[in-house]
Amino acid sequence: MRIGVLISGRGSNLKALIGACEEPGFRGRIALVISNRPGAGGLAVAKAAGIPTLVIDHKEFSTRETFDAELDRALANAGVDLVCNAGFMRILTDGFVEKWRDRQLNIHPSLLPAFKGLHVHQRALDAGVKITGCTVHFVRPEMDEGPIVAQAAVPVLPGDTAETLAARILEAEHKLYPLALKLVVEGRARVVGEHVVLDHDGEAVTGSLFVPAEK
Ligand code: GRF
Repeated sequence: MRIGVLISGRGSNLKALIGACEEPGFRGRIALVISNRPGAGGLAVAKAAGIPTLVIDHKEFSTRETFDAELDRALANAGVDLVCNAGFMRILTDGFVEKWRDRQLNIHPSLLPAFKGLHVHQRALDAGVKITGCTVHFVRPEMDEGPIVAQAAVPVLPGDTAETLAARILEAEHKLYPLALKLVVEGRARVVGEHVVLDHDGEAVTGSLFVPAEK
């Protein structure tokens, strides 16, 4: 399976996905990394791994439709089968999302459906939740919605700031996204009626992961 990764920033999740694809026997490889920001740190991460990169700067497009059409063209040209959003900070048009329906994943740093959108870590602290986490899901037109492939729970600790909480969740993201990608690439995570069904196939498969508090 040929994977296209969309990024906007530092690319630490991209790095985790690259690591997953390098595992012996992994049935997918990253064919292309696209950033909508020319200065995204993740571009260097991709280049260091020898992966082709492309910048499609959204500022050069007057409409979301024309930007998304360019994105779509680039993914198709690279023969991409599955798109992974990894810190991609653009809202995609319904047309693009529908075209890649059940073939596009996203990672979000909360236990969806809680805390969709931005400033997620501060909002979790403000709400006083004791457990939060991260979610990998198939993309749907509504932001941070779609069938959930896998989730990881992460505790909120006394004294946490948005930064310390984000760092703890990010560690979980780096474990969860490779796990979810593997399930999808191997055809073991399928969308049935807007829920993801995980195939066991004689093996223990879990869509959840608990990342315990550090001492
Ligand atoms: C991650 O926290 C991801 O969940 C969110 O944006 C952040 C991207 O970080 N969507 P990175 O670019 O993968 O380091």
